[in-house]
Amino acid sequence: HRDLTGISQLERHEILYLLASAEEWVEHNRGRNKRADLLSGLTIINAFFENSTRTLLSFEIAGKRLGADVVNMHAAQSSVKKGETLIDTAITLNAMRADAIVIRHGSSGATQLIADKVDCPVLNAGDGQHEHPTQALLDALALRQALAARGEGAEDFTGRTVLICGDILHSRVARSNILCLQAMGAKVRLCSPPALMPQGVEMMGAEAFHDFDVALEGSDVVMMLRLQTERMSGQFIPSAREYHHLYGLTKARLERASPDALVMHPGPMNRGVEIDSDVADMLDRSIITSQVEMGVAIRMACLEILTRSGRGVEGWAA
Ligand code: CP
Repeated sequence: HRDLTGISQLERHEILYLLASAEEWVEHNRGRNKRADLLSGLTIINAFFENSTRTLLSFEIAGKRLGADVVNMHAAQSSVKKGETLIDTAITLNAMRADAIVIRHGSSGATQLIADKVDCPVLNAGDGQHEHPTQALLDALALRQALAARGEGAEDFTGRTVLICGDILHSRVARSNILCLQAMGAKVRLCSPPALMPQGVEMMGAEAFHDFDVALEGSDVVMMLRLQTERMSGQFIPSAREYHHLYGLTKARLERASPDALVMHPGPMNRGVEIDSDVADMLDRSIITSQVEMGVAIRMACLEILTRSGRGVEGWAA
């Protein structure tokens, strides 16, 4: 079987295959009957060791719409609190004969550690500062759908410049998006305060900026990220007011980007800090709500494709 631990594990054609499959689920989910019983009889465990609204709910909805039995393990109520190790937790989940395990964990690499110990596909729902692959896939799908709705539909993002602005250093969303957007032909710009930019982003093929106004010029898509204060230790943390002054996306600032530039945010948003409400809620420019909708479709596609091997169905993940 195949796991989904990071975009780094995917070939470009596999990303495009997942997006095409998810596009069919978008249409399906807009119909009245949202059930499809492809995964009937399978058990999916969502093991979340960190908080989540969007990712946990959309994985649960995705599994249920596909007809699987979905169980959520919240770390706060689990025996992890009694000192059980991650590996023993993985062995325990495996013994229950799960058909897929979805993991969110605060440590980079935790998903791979579990994937190495269990017999079923493991999907990374965000591990520390490493990767959040289904977020990058849903972002790509939302962007592709928004461009298609404007009559600019294309298979990939060749010729487009995407600016990701915020706490790049701590962001698994940024890391997965850099890999995914570049695999799809986009030019990626990163903008953050100097203390929140990781070393070596140029080696990943991205262009680094610290002046948001400069970075915005010529950007076709602006993806805003929140400050992940829960992961900061020792870094200079600007005040919310100061951060908004330098790096907050206001309506006036958005004017510096390409005409009709699209606005994205993975959530959770801190309105008035990294993004103003009147930008987040701009009907013609903001695709933040579409990102959430695409999350369910992407997770349905990932669960369906990654369980093919266990179901005896042919496919790239078989
Ligand atoms: N975008 C995202 O991962 O949101 P949650 O933390 O709410 O899952």
